[in-house]
Amino acid sequence: MHNGTLKFASLFSGCGGFDLGFIRQGFLSQSAYDCDPDAIENFRANIRGDIFNVDLTNGVPNQQSLYGIDALIAGPPCQGFSTAGKRLIDDERNHLLTLTGHLARRIHPKVLVVENVAGALSGAHARYWNELDETMRLAGYRTTTVRCQAADLGMAQLRKRVLFFAWRTRRDIEFTIPSLPAGDLRSVLAGSTNQMNHHPKRLCPQSREWQIAKRIKPGQKLSNVRGGENAVATWDIPEVFGVITENERTVLEVLRRLRRQERQRDHGDADPVSLPRLEAALGGHFHRLVDGLVAKGYLRRVSEEVDLVGTFNGKFRRLAWDKPSCTVDTRFGSPRYFLHPSQQRGFTVREAARIQGFSDSYVFCGSEKGQYRVIGNAVPPPLGEMAAVLARRLLGAAL
Ligand SMILES: C[S@@+](CC[C@H](N)C(=O)[O-])C[C@H]1O[C@@H](n2cnc3c(N)ncnc32)[C@H](O)[C@@H]1O
Repeated sequence: MHNGTLKFASLFSGCGGFDLGFIRQGFLSQSAYDCDPDAIENFRANIRGDIFNVDLTNGVPNQQSLYGIDALIAGPPCQGFSTAGKRLIDDERNHLLTLTGHLARRIHPKVLVVENVAGALSGAHARYWNELDETMRLAGYRTTTVRCQAADLGMAQLRKRVLFFAWRTRRDIEFTIPSLPAGDLRSVLAGSTNQMNHHPKRLCPQSREWQIAKRIKPGQKLSNVRGGENAVATWDIPEVFGVITENERTVLEVLRRLRRQERQRDHGDADPVSLPRLEAALGGHFHRLVDGLVAKGYLRRVSEEVDLVGTFNGKFRRLAWDKPSCTVDTRFGSPRYFLHPSQQRGFTVREAARIQGFSDSYVFCGSEKGQYRVIGNAVPPPLGEMAAVLARRLLGAAL
């Protein structure tokens, strides 16, 4: 049994989402490190404990003060691993995962917990995670990787993440994760109206964005990539994108289908379609229709091929009241990406923070852009709390 208060330090601490989970579980913050002034400003305004503005590639300053600390937690950047991004294998930020292992080896905590996106485990990108694992094993730690889903913790958000644990205590525990029913937007956003950081910015009536938003129902998004009831194509909004005939609609829908068949490139999620393939599917009269659609701005010719001008996949996604949110990211304030379930606007800072599991007592400060960024990048505090429960068990300490 551990008698005193458990202490932790955090690397890549952002605005402290991960840290809050540990604090909620009774851990004491000894120090935190990040290089983003917005993150540091928010951390300082809300969390008791020191945070240092440092570039961790130069190491942890005064590292000996952390030697042997109970828990070291780290949320290195995930952009290079995220399937929502370009997933460049050589993205400089990927090395920060490996760096975490080297810093931890020197600090020698009793338990190390690292959080990242599920994409860090897939394909060639897994080499960074494997290096972290190997570094800790070679340093005498036992390790495990746990996959989790924020919605299974009862949160109103679908957010798949992975947690890495390395420990040098004699403890052995079952890394079981709760499996609760997911929350929904209605309950998580209830009563947010009078809270701090809640400043709804409705789209200007009759503006182009407002006209698009009006056509998107809950659960739908603007997308020319796939058909189906959850996708609204640009040609379904003629008042914004231009009127087309029924024959032109057929050309666009056939093109949409063919773009995804017989893939030729190894990037993107669809390819331009050759004129002979279009002719085989539509007959000889299609050339005139294609010319008309090029003139209307729906299609473009790419040498001997034809493609859609805009694919818009993932834009103007309207969330539904009775479902959990999709993953909160740094763009949650923008209606071009995410729409409130029943109003023509994006989400306020408070709404994004609530979906991420921050309590209303966390007051966000600094530039609004920075506020959305630190919230989207944060480890949801309830996920941090679950990690803290497991870390506490590895330390063999009761609350
Ligand atoms: C995924 S976010 C961390 C989120 C944080 N754990 C939380 O729960 O709020 C990654 C953080 O790493 C920081 N970061 C990126 N490169 C860094 C570097 N070289 N040194 C220090 N911090 C860095 C970013 O500023 C960002 O706040």
